Amino acid sequence: MAKKKINVGIVGYGFMGRTHTNAYRQAPKFFDMPYDFVLKAVSGLEKDVAEAFASNWGFESFETDWRKLIERDDIDAVDICAPNFMHHDIAIAAAEAGKTILCEKPLAMNSKEALEMVEAVEKAGVPNMVSYNYRRIPAVTLAKNLIDEGRLGRVFHYRAVFLQDWTISTDLPQGGDALWRLDAKAAGSGVTGDLLAHCIDTALWLNGSIGSVTAMTETFVKERKHNLTGKVEPVTIDDACAFLARFDNGSLATFESTRYARGHKALYTFEINGEHASIQWDLHDLHRLSYFDHRDDSLVRGWRSIHVTDGDMPYMDRWWVPGLSVGFECSFIHGVADFYKGIESGEPAHPTFRDALETQSVCDAILKSAKTGAWEKVEC
Ligand SMILES: NC(=O)c1ccc[n+]([C@@H]2O[C@H](COP(=O)([O-])OP(=O)(O)OC[C@H]3O[C@@H](n4cnc5c(N)ncnc54)[C@H](O)[C@@H]3O)[C@@H](O)[C@H]2O)c1
Repeated sequence: MAKKKINVGIVGYGFMGRTHTNAYRQAPKFFDMPYDFVLKAVSGLEKDVAEAFASNWGFESFETDWRKLIERDDIDAVDICAPNFMHHDIAIAAAEAGKTILCEKPLAMNSKEALEMVEAVEKAGVPNMVSYNYRRIPAVTLAKNLIDEGRLGRVFHYRAVFLQDWTISTDLPQGGDALWRLDAKAAGSGVTGDLLAHCIDTALWLNGSIGSVTAMTETFVKERKHNLTGKVEPVTIDDACAFLARFDNGSLATFESTRYARGHKALYTFEINGEHASIQWDLHDLHRLSYFDHRDDSLVRGWRSIHVTDGDMPYMDRWWVPGLSVGFECSFIHGVADFYKGIESGEPAHPTFRDALETQSVCDAILKSAKTGAWEKVEC
């Protein structure tokens, strides 16, 4: 039977533009999907780059203004892979035009914007999801399944870090292509909205809602040349953030993120300690899940490293043979597959825009606490 065609328009040809485009190409091949994707158009700032990207990845056309992409009747689905400050306007315009929307994280610059986006997609009734892709790394999905089976029992502790080291040089400018992350006007915040948002989304998914937080942030390099103005300007993002949190289930948490941890490129780890068992995961070894179960026979009790490659592990029956692993790019392929399977079945894949609003509210509370020095409630 011929598959239905979904015409996709992607806004942004950078890092995420590549991972998402790859996902549309691969998902129907590896997963049973009722759809095939047609790469209709990509949009980005520079004409030459957009044209080369379209040609390399097999897009039928390109645009240099995202509004033109959304106005097109031949586009069914809009995929937002642009810097954070653009998500709000693109998503609302796409919702009003009746498009299906996949949006990169963080959903927005702050929870006020995020709420407006939630209202727009819900009013328009368009399918929507946010690309918090770590949920769909097979080892992380396995952690979710083990927790949901009750193997950990009551959870006492949640611990997450996300460490990088790429902004230590004082000569690094802020603003513009790729460096928009250092400019609060384009990013909303620093590591909080960029890296901790991932940690928070995973934590909310695995361990439930966070009630309150207390945080500290620091900006180590106070001024940088701005690529768009050519002037040296104050840096207003948080270079580093550490916060404590209380989950509604009574567990305590510590979270830390920085771009100043020399030697670490993308070290995202989390550990959860329960009454019966503990779980650890590490992005640098993403196909393994560490698990300790106190109920094991004492003679063989210890941390085990589960190689998440067997066919009964999440997603792995669609990939290679047992013993052979998949990588970072697969989390996006799984995201596209789940999103569209959810549209077909009527059971939406998560996180929806509304789910991702909660992460945004935690980020707002963190940034507020870093200013007030007090514990702040997460306002949802
Ligand atoms: N899920 C993840 O693991 C993950 C990883 C990286 C980035 N992201 C998110 O994806 C989104 C895009 O990030 P990226 O790393 O692909 O960015 P990038 O800098 O690599 O690409 C940005 C794209 O947006 C376009 N653009 C349009 N207007 C722009 C402007 N005024 N300034 C700069 N670029 C502009 C650029 O042309 C480019 O195509 C962000 O929201 C980011 O937070 C998610």
